[in-house]
Parts: sequence; C-alpha cells; structure tokens
Amino acid sequence: MALRPSILISALSLMAVLAVPTAAPAATANPTHDSGQSSGAVAVPDDSLRALASRVGLRIGTAVNTDALAANATYRQITADQFSSVTPENVMKWQVVEPTQGTYDWSAADQLVNFAKANGQLVRGHTLVWHSQLPSWFSTDGVTTSFTPQQVRDLLYKHVVDEVSHFRGQIWQWDVVNEAFNDDGTPRESVFYMAYQALGLNGLDYIADAFRWAHQADPKALLFYNDYNIEGLGPKSDAVYALAKQLLAQGVPIDGIGAQGHLDTQYGFPNQMQQNLQRFADLGLKVALTEVDVRTTLPVTTPEKLAQNADYIQMLEACLLVRACISYTVWGFGDAFSWVPSVFAGEGSADIYDENLQPKASYFALQQTLMLASGAPHRDGMGAGRR
Ligand code: XIL
Repeated sequence: MALRPSILISALSLMAVLAVPTAAPAATANPTHDSGQSSGAVAVPDDSLRALASRVGLRIGTAVNTDALAANATYRQITADQFSSVTPENVMKWQVVEPTQGTYDWSAADQLVNFAKANGQLVRGHTLVWHSQLPSWFSTDGVTTSFTPQQVRDLLYKHVVDEVSHFRGQIWQWDVVNEAFNDDGTPRESVFYMAYQALGLNGLDYIADAFRWAHQADPKALLFYNDYNIEGLGPKSDAVYALAKQLLAQGVPIDGIGAQGHLDTQYGFPNQMQQNLQRFADLGLKVALTEVDVRTTLPVTTPEKLAQNADYIQMLEACLLVRACISYTVWGFGDAFSWVPSVFAGEGSADIYDENLQPKASYFALQQTLMLASGAPHRDGMGAGRR
C-alpha cells in the first residue's frame, strides 16, 4: 500500500502537469479533473486543494468528524472534493474502538475507511498509543490504572496488534505513538512510561515496542511518531529528534515524524520550521503536518485574521519545501466542528471554513500557495529579463 500509490501519484501527476496549460488552473475550461492521486479516477474540482496539491505529489488531508460526515451533505461534499487524505478525528482512538474490555467496535472507523476508498483518498490512522482518550476500564486519567505493569504491556500489545490487523492494507500512515514528551523535552510520565519503568525497563521502551508490533501487523503502513510543539526547532523537537535517531539506530521500523501544527496567533510562528522538518528528513524519515489549525482569541480582529492566513501559508510552504513532507492535514475544516472552543477558553475561528461551511481567507491563501507550488506563470517581453 505504501509503494503502489506513490508510483501512481508520480505517473499521474506527470500527466496532470503535461495536460494543464501554464495559465492559472482555476481558469481552465473543464471544471473537474482526476484528483491525480487515486486509482479510482475520482472527479474533483480543478481548483480544489487536493487537485492543486496532486501536481507536486502532496496529499492535503483533513480530520473528519464522522457524525458530521453522516449527517451533513455539504460537509461530505467538501471532504470529498477538497482533500486527498482523511484522518478520523476520534473514531480510531482506543476509547472508541474498545469501549468494553475485549469487545471491539470498528463501525465508525470502517465507515470512514470506506468513504475514503470511494473518494480516492488515503487514510492516516490516528492514534494507537496515547495517554489521552483511553478506555475507562483501562485508565481514566492517562497516568494510573488498576492493571499491573506486565498487564499494561500485554494489553498495549493486544491493542496495537488487533487494531493494526483490523485495518491491514487500508492505512497509509499510522500515528503509532502520540505526544510522548513534555514541552521541555522530558518524557511524559504516562501510564505506559510508568509501567515500563516499573518493569525495570527504560520508560520510553514502550515506543520501540509499539512500532515493532505495528510493523508486524501491517508491514506496508508508514509508521509515524506524532506530537505538538515540535514544528520548529526547540527542546521538544530536539527530544523527538534524539528519539528518532535512537530508534533508527536500533533498527526500529519508524518511517516518519508528524508535527501536529496546532498554532495560536498569540504565540507567533514556530522557530525555523522548514529547517526543523528537513533535519528529520535528513535522517531518512518522512515528515507530515498532521493536525493543522490556527486558533485566535474571539472575536477575531483583522490583524488576527491576517496572522492566521500567514501561519497557514507558512506551514504549507515549509512542507512544500521539504521533499519528504508527504502530507499537510488540517484538524477539521469547519469552525462549527472545531475542537478549539471546547478546549481553549475564549478562542476559536481556527479553521479554513466558517461556521456555515463557507471558505475563509485562509482557504484561499492555501489555494493560492498550492497554485504557486507548481510554478508561477512565466512573463513575456521586456519584463522577462532578456535585455
Ligand atoms: C481531539 C479531538 O479533536 C476532540 O474531538 C477530542 O475531544 C479530543 O481530541 N491532539 C491530537 C488529537 O492528537 O487527537 C486531538 O483531537 C487534538 C490534539
């Protein structure tokens, strides 16, 4: 699965480049074209984010709220038209797939995988090992559990292998481990970390275990470590870089690093994002922006809107400039469905479509950047610099 689509992408995106005149893509007569990235020849708008990104082999993804997908036709249409990759926002998390110990419920996730297939999209599996959204029978706070350390390890093994096996062959990238570090670069003392320490192991050894188990269960899926506040250079990114180097040295099957990209206009842009992504790429890893959104304090002012547009664009540019950056995923696309207001008091307006699913300036900013990514139209005459 990992190899075949990329061969298709390069062959088809070459055809797309050849077929499209040098004029701006939105100006072509044909309103739809093949996404350039699927064997299913799905027709999507020429000027959609996914069609534009396919010209440079990049996948544009979104997190999907599966309730909205089932209930809202406009939401469904935008998901299909604009995005070439989908991530379940919640329905592959341990809490959802195994609500009662030993009883799995894959129904919502299966529906999304089927939607993706029907629409020529790839799936980012999210997420196997995370301290949050654990089933209540296992842990309610992500730190404590009534199971013994050995039972924790055994349950983690079963969870990873069962889930990856269920979706074998259908997942492009798995977020195998999510958010294992604190912002200062020290390990997060999660239920997994504590159990491994109690077993006399290095607390972080659960990470290597999880990648090995996931690889056994689906050798073709790309396996990612995913975290926030690792977009730019800094102590947390340094810790993940050290981890990645160590895992590679130990022969652990890790394929990529996901930087979530949850930005907030009040903090400014992460430090040297392109260079940071490139250093992971230089280790031979793929990279991805996995959960992009840009929140701000409400009500949103004009300067904040401009800052949001700039952040969306700069993240996309950093990804476009690093060849190993294979996907840019927004964490949902409609403000009405965003996770931000419920988690960050007084903040919101973080997405590229508004409350009524109308595209915002940040949508058009991404669209324009993607148009430029395959080359600005060359000028003729004196201005072309010939004399
Ligand atoms: C969030 C979802 O968007 C919410 O609906 C849910 O209530 C909590 O989790 N980092 C991650 C995501 O890796 O899984 C989180 O998603 C957002 C932060």
